[in-house]
Amino acid sequence: MDWKKDFIWGTATSSYQIEGAAFEDGKGLSVWDVFVREKGRIFEGHTGDVACDHYHRMKEDVALLAELGVGAYRFSVSWPRIMPHGTGSVNETGLKFYSDLIDELLKHHITPYVTLFHWDYPNELEMQGGWLNPSSPDWFAQYTAVVANAFGDRVKHYFTFNEPQIFTWLGYDRCTHAPGIKYPVGRILAMCRNIALAHGKSVQKLRELVPDCRVGYAPTCGNAYWPVEETELLAAKAKELQDSIGAEDWIHSSAFWNELFIKGRFHRQCPQLFGDDLPELSEGDRLLISQPLDFCGMNLYQGTSVCLSEAGELILGELPAGHGKTGMGWPITPKAMYWAVKNFYDTYQLPLFITENGMSALDVISLDGGVHDPCRIDYLERHLSELKRAVSDGAKVEGYFLWSFLDNFEWEKGYDDRFGIVYVDYETQRRVPKDSFYWYQNTIKS
Ligand code: NOJ
Repeated sequence: MDWKKDFIWGTATSSYQIEGAAFEDGKGLSVWDVFVREKGRIFEGHTGDVACDHYHRMKEDVALLAELGVGAYRFSVSWPRIMPHGTGSVNETGLKFYSDLIDELLKHHITPYVTLFHWDYPNELEMQGGWLNPSSPDWFAQYTAVVANAFGDRVKHYFTFNEPQIFTWLGYDRCTHAPGIKYPVGRILAMCRNIALAHGKSVQKLRELVPDCRVGYAPTCGNAYWPVEETELLAAKAKELQDSIGAEDWIHSSAFWNELFIKGRFHRQCPQLFGDDLPELSEGDRLLISQPLDFCGMNLYQGTSVCLSEAGELILGELPAGHGKTGMGWPITPKAMYWAVKNFYDTYQLPLFITENGMSALDVISLDGGVHDPCRIDYLERHLSELKRAVSDGAKVEGYFLWSFLDNFEWEKGYDDRFGIVYVDYETQRRVPKDSFYWYQNTIKS
């Protein structure tokens, strides 16, 4: 693969999914610590209490990252680990964990990319209304300041929010994620406004406290449409769909969030879709939210096909019988990578990072002791070659973070799904690099 020399190869994880040590060293409760204890919420009642025990095995894990040869590692900070009550007092032991992690990464020439919020929201703040509380943007700014003051000398790359789509949609509408409280659409929209203000304030804080930092956010590309036949007509239709939102999928779409975070406005279709439920955005709000970003992240796993029926009607999401899918049942659609990246770049002209891409599979340790995951290698190769095609066609992509470094706690699916390129035996916490680990190592080298 002929990538330009300064392309950043990385891998990603998040705090609740790997750290464990949920009740240690002064960490406060997150909404996930509470949610996983509610009956019937998580597959077989799994919790992130121990997860990959990364909190205690950090050095061993960083040594593996070094062996992998990545130039960058994207991880998230657990807000309640460093601010047990969400605001106010700071937990020095929690800060030390991340400080040591950062030092260890730098020692191995791995650049840390920090995600400020990957869903483990302080439970005490949730009890005060969470993202609905008008103070919530300031709470997030305070937390950002703690992170920036503690790590800004060594961390220069930040993502404010990971997938705002998912924690709002699954947390407050579908109720399959924490905190699992069903809100009407008006409340969810009010929450989105506060989240956007929090993002803006956080970017401002980072710029003030770490002037040489680079900042973005990491949405999922919920509406990645790809034309089955790459005709002009279908390509245009796919772009139109990616740039629009529907009554059903507005919150899951990237169009809603990109318009909000990048342009500081509600998507043009919002007034018609939501009427009086749509909150006001003052001129001041808009300016605050749309702080210039250095890049945007994109988490991309799958997309929706767009094709024409024999009668010339547009058909969405139809794939031939037996079409490949991942362990989680997600269709394997590598062309979504090309079209999502190209279409995003054509619309926003902002450099991109693929902040997540990878697949879950039913991995096992074989009799020979290895973990053979040819399907994952195939998935990754196909997606990378489509990414490369987008780059060759002019999209500015700075790097790629494979999801995920380790098998980990896959939210409501518990440990049932394995996304890692390193297998984790949860009973012994032994790490076994999978074939895909060695494949990625070679890809990075070459
Ligand atoms: C995106 C999320 O950011 C991550 O936490 C999750 O594990 C992956 N998708 C896979 O579902």
